[in-house]
Amino acid sequence: PIIAGNWKMNNTKAQTYALLNDLVPLVADAEAEVVICVPYTSIWAAGEAIKGTNIHLGAENVHWAEKGAFTGEISADMLLEQGVEYVIIGHSERRQYFGETDETVNKRVLTALAKGLKPIICVGETLEEREGGKVEEVLVRQTTEALKGVDKDQLDKIVIAYEPVWAIGTGKTATAQDANDTIAIIRNTIAKLYCPKCAEEKVRIQYGGSLNPKKAKELMSMPQIDGGLIGGASLKAEDQVQRLKSCKIKIKALRKGRFFICNSKLIIIKEDDLKNHLTDTASVYII
Ligand code: 13P
Repeated sequence: PIIAGNWKMNNTKAQTYALLNDLVPLVADAEAEVVICVPYTSIWAAGEAIKGTNIHLGAENVHWAEKGAFTGEISADMLLEQGVEYVIIGHSERRQYFGETDETVNKRVLTALAKGLKPIICVGETLEEREGGKVEEVLVRQTTEALKGVDKDQLDKIVIAYEPVWAIGTGKTATAQDANDTIAIIRNTIAKLYCPKCAEEKVRIQYGGSLNPKKAKELMSMPQIDGGLIGGASLKAEDQVQRLKSCKIKIKALRKGRFFICNSKLIIIKEDDLKNHLTDTASVYII
């Protein structure tokens, strides 16, 4: 299985260090492959913070061109140079707000693969499409278009994230059965495009959309679901740190505890307390 965090447009460099200092020990024994997909400005810091750990580094998009006049875009080489391994492509927020289409998704996928990046391709229907009975039509189209020109032997580099748009950031998680059955449609599409064995064994398909620790166990136990793509809940460790409201994180964590400078005071938080729901006062020692 593969569990990936999509940080979206969250976390400064300082927050990146803080969150990863929490996350690294928490996932050290994870059986799943753990990936964090971070904003471009956090890639370098994230790469440093996870060096030598079991966490893999991902980005949130990649352009199809090698280089050139594409203001605001980023190339595969730029990501690879920073140690990026995975890249999210075609997230519904890109499709909704930034004009991403099936065609541009496909171009990004082909370039990512050609360069050695592993694409996490997002597909999923809107509420309107679901209510209009178009789930299958949408997923077959998005999957087929995204994979156009992808060779069979590249399939094991591909992750697909089924993210129903109505479930993203809404707290309305799909039921385990529904997510499972819908992912079966995607797998069946891949089976028809390539071969049943390819669909079964090569492509990992995640569920994403208001996936939180409470819902994760049931969803992840479903036979069709190979992992999760997590937005809001992937920032949870950060939420805990945020409770130290006015603090600016200036010093990185040491092994046994966390150290911050806040209003010119050194604050130490015990790691145990961090794990057990940090409160504003209970676990903070001011020297
Ligand atoms: P949420 O987990 O916040 O619903 O976001 C899901 C998502 O969009 C991951 O890519």
